[in-house]
Amino acid sequence: MNLKDKAVLVLGGTHGMGRATVDLLIEGGARVTATGSRDKTVDCLRQEQPRVTGAVLDLADDGQVEAFAGQVPDTLDAVIVFAAIAELTPLEAVSRAEFDRSFAINVRGVFFALQSLLPRLKAGGAIVLTTMTPSTATPTMGVYSATKAALGAYGTVLAAELLPRNIRVNMLAPGFIDTPTLGVAGLSESQRAELHAIGDAVTPMRRHGRMDEIARAALFLAFDATFSTGIELAVDGGLSTVDAPVD
Ligand SMILES: NC(=O)c1ccc[n+]([C@@H]2O[C@H](COP(=O)([O-])OP(=O)(O)OC[C@H]3O[C@@H](n4cnc5c(N)ncnc54)[C@H](OP(=O)(O)O)[C@@H]3O)[C@@H](O)[C@H]2O)c1
Repeated sequence: MNLKDKAVLVLGGTHGMGRATVDLLIEGGARVTATGSRDKTVDCLRQEQPRVTGAVLDLADDGQVEAFAGQVPDTLDAVIVFAAIAELTPLEAVSRAEFDRSFAINVRGVFFALQSLLPRLKAGGAIVLTTMTPSTATPTMGVYSATKAALGAYGTVLAAELLPRNIRVNMLAPGFIDTPTLGVAGLSESQRAELHAIGDAVTPMRRHGRMDEIARAALFLAFDATFSTGIELAVDGGLSTVDAPVD
């Protein structure tokens, strides 16, 4: 995809799907700003991909979120949001602190970051929000799933609000994707193996998605899906749409 002259901001571009999307954007010739919440990961991104402008943005930090739009160098053609956290906690063990932190990053932080970035978005531009595949109910992921549902609800309203500015807003809904974290903070090796096995077993295509498959879907929504707004595109190996074959 030729992305010369496109300026794109990726929130949560230091690793995983966000990083794969950053790489594809750079390959297409885009000017890319990408964020992570930690100096270490942002420094690593800068070293590995020197053509990216790396910035630290902790979405849980209201001060950083408010100041961030002023640091974005360009007017933007697209904002693509991957940043989020997930923790695996049974409902009876969820603390108020965990609940608040998840919503602070995945919903409030994204909400107010986008609010402050709106003046920097060009007419004809696009926002892509990462939710999760609909119709899955994985035990221990109650808080995370609630944050993603909230983000998706926000995205559809934002799509309506930004129609007059000709800015499209769409949701990207991954299923089980093989990223370094599997999208979950602090997994042990055995938890990772267990979650991975569940993903392969329940996904009708019987495999995890690849990060490049998500990156291409993100770019499709950002640039090619010119007659779509307010949709949620499932990229999930059929998880939300077809029955798994009987073994
Ligand atoms: N992997 C899956 O199977 C899966 C499935 C469904 C949905 N998803 C969603 O897809 C997206 C990407 O998943 P992934 O597996 O690629 O995740 P990941 O590798 O864990 O990356 C998450 C990104 O979020 C950033 N981040 C974490 N805490 C943050 C904070 N407090 N403030 C700002 N940024 C923060 C991370 O940056 P730093 O580490 O630099 O802070 C990183 O760039 C997420 O929204 C996830 O919920 C993933």
